[in-house]
Amino acid sequence: MTDTHQNKSIKELNDILGDIRSYLDYLSDTGCRGFDCTEESIKKVSDWGNKKDILPETLEKIRKDLGPCTRCGLSERRNSIVFGVGDTHARLVFVGEGPGADEDRAGEPFVGAAGQLLTKIIHAMHLTREQVYICNIIKCRPPGNRNPLPDEIETCFPFLERQMKAIKPDFICALGAVAAQTLLGCTDPISRLRGRFHECMGARLMPTYHPSYLLRNPEKKRDVWEDMQALMVEMGISL
Ligand code: URA
Repeated sequence: MTDTHQNKSIKELNDILGDIRSYLDYLSDTGCRGFDCTEESIKKVSDWGNKKDILPETLEKIRKDLGPCTRCGLSERRNSIVFGVGDTHARLVFVGEGPGADEDRAGEPFVGAAGQLLTKIIHAMHLTREQVYICNIIKCRPPGNRNPLPDEIETCFPFLERQMKAIKPDFICALGAVAAQTLLGCTDPISRLRGRFHECMGARLMPTYHPSYLLRNPEKKRDVWEDMQALMVEMGISL
């Protein structure tokens, strides 16, 4: 370092110290007689500016944190972790219940018979699977396609919450009772929840019947189409 550079650095340091001194004088004039030096406060201050603090949450990071998950018993019999697919900044996210046999094999949500019906519904809304995001309440297949158990949902849900925070969708479509009740934290039947918007994680959530239910009860397709039309209107998609 040359003398000129050294003098410049010393001057800058003195300027900073001068600023700190005047600020402390100002605090003293306003009646401040000390600082909170608890361990917690010191940690908070020393964390300021850490890259970790300011890096935005990404789906890649969440997937990495999930790792080869063994947090619940479903890991023992699954073939794939079904994380989610689609636009990482989608305006609309579809949330199902959990992977079935086809999804477990493919590692992708909604690719079986119910998935094909969901794809048709998405196309009827003038959208594509690539323009939305599709995921589930739980990421591993429950044996025999039983409903997820409360502790399985509780273990997996924080990852879905992080996915939603990363995607920041304007709209969520909850497919079926498990998805709707988990996301809304209630036990109301899907027949009472569907057909109107609810608030969920900063998005407007429309619950509707699960495509598997529609395969067994095709007369309910009319209700689902009404729910999708309500979503289209709010999203500004022409009917
Ligand atoms: N049913 C679901 O709830 N999710 C899938 O991914 C497939 C079927």
